[in-house]
Amino acid sequence: MLDCLIRGVNLPDGRKGVDIAINEGRIVEVAPCIGAKAAQEIDASGCLATPPFVDSHFHMDATLTYGQPRINESGTLLEGIALWGELKPHLTVEAIKERARQLCRWAIAKGTLAIRSHVDIGDERLLAVQALLDIREEFKPYIDLQLVAFPQDGYLRHEKNRGNMERALDMGVDVVGGIPHFERTMAEGALSVKLLCELAERRGLPVDMHCDESDDPLSRHVETLAYHANRLRLQGRVTGSHLTSMHSMDNYYVSKLIPLMKEAGLNAVANPLINITLQGRHDTYPKRRGMTRVKELMAAGINVSFGHDCVMDPWYSFGSHDMLEVAHMGLHVAQMTGVAEMRRMFDAVTVNGARTLGLEGYGLEPGCRGDMVIIQAGDVHEALRLRPPRLYVIRRGRIVSRMMPAVARVSLGNAVYEVDFRYPA
Ligand code: FE2
Repeated sequence: MLDCLIRGVNLPDGRKGVDIAINEGRIVEVAPCIGAKAAQEIDASGCLATPPFVDSHFHMDATLTYGQPRINESGTLLEGIALWGELKPHLTVEAIKERARQLCRWAIAKGTLAIRSHVDIGDERLLAVQALLDIREEFKPYIDLQLVAFPQDGYLRHEKNRGNMERALDMGVDVVGGIPHFERTMAEGALSVKLLCELAERRGLPVDMHCDESDDPLSRHVETLAYHANRLRLQGRVTGSHLTSMHSMDNYYVSKLIPLMKEAGLNAVANPLINITLQGRHDTYPKRRGMTRVKELMAAGINVSFGHDCVMDPWYSFGSHDMLEVAHMGLHVAQMTGVAEMRRMFDAVTVNGARTLGLEGYGLEPGCRGDMVIIQAGDVHEALRLRPPRLYVIRRGRIVSRMMPAVARVSLGNAVYEVDFRYPA
């Protein structure tokens, strides 16, 4: 007797009407009409099954603080940073944990079972670090949560942050972060990248930096990050997040930079919802979109994944932690509307994210972990178009969230039509 058997699903690669069998937490078979019995059987005929969504870049310590202590009136990055500064002295471990718990429940309901969250280490008390380490353990059965030690107000800009970084890593934070474009000078930014990559190399940890989250076409920290990843042989372990300066860079320079990134095995993370709202604020018209060069990076064979970055925090007043919403925005901003391109946008919130995080056993093949999401959509295109309910979210072969299908009943005269927006009806 199997633990769980899902019947009749379509897969992101185009296979239709297959069954997926899960036993002892792992997928054991993917085939049409599996003849076994299971303790839990789910009829999901015609629905899309996907490996769980992965959020490659988030800030769980700041999430769900909307309105605390006040709302970001201008909606800008700078007012957001000021607001976070006002809020920080009032944070408590328990308040951070309670907000993080709520966010994790939202994420699970939307089918996101892996999140890489940056955590601000600028507070000497490291309250947010302690809170999110606790949450990482508490939610281990449900979510793979990775933490990045993030010096929000600069690594070299504030003396305390060098010690705070070491202490956060000693406490068990998984990844070394940074913010070179926020250091005092370009040279200091470059030095911070060098020191932080060397620190990661010494400790055997990955690197994930906010790198060039600016509209400055002359910022060069992505190049420096690629250089040190290559020099220290950290290929595949280093991630550049945001990389928005690349949007504004000279094309000739980018034609040199992208091969350097490829050679260094850099992962790139874009945050479409945030980049489109926070970048280009100094422009009149034409107004830059600010997101990094997703299409060109993917074409060069660089692993590009997407992050939600923010949900109802000082920088962003929207969101319900839905990675389909992120992919939908990314698709529009990057103009990835070709058939194969849409599939790549779905990959950016699933398999590519798993690669950025280095997740073990991710996928829908035999031997992979029994984690998946059943969506009220027939294929990837429909999932992106409708961002519909996640009917079942399954972790290690057990249902951890379920949702009713969304169907409207439209009454026109004597006729009643059920409308779920799927095509063909
Ligand atoms: Fe961020």
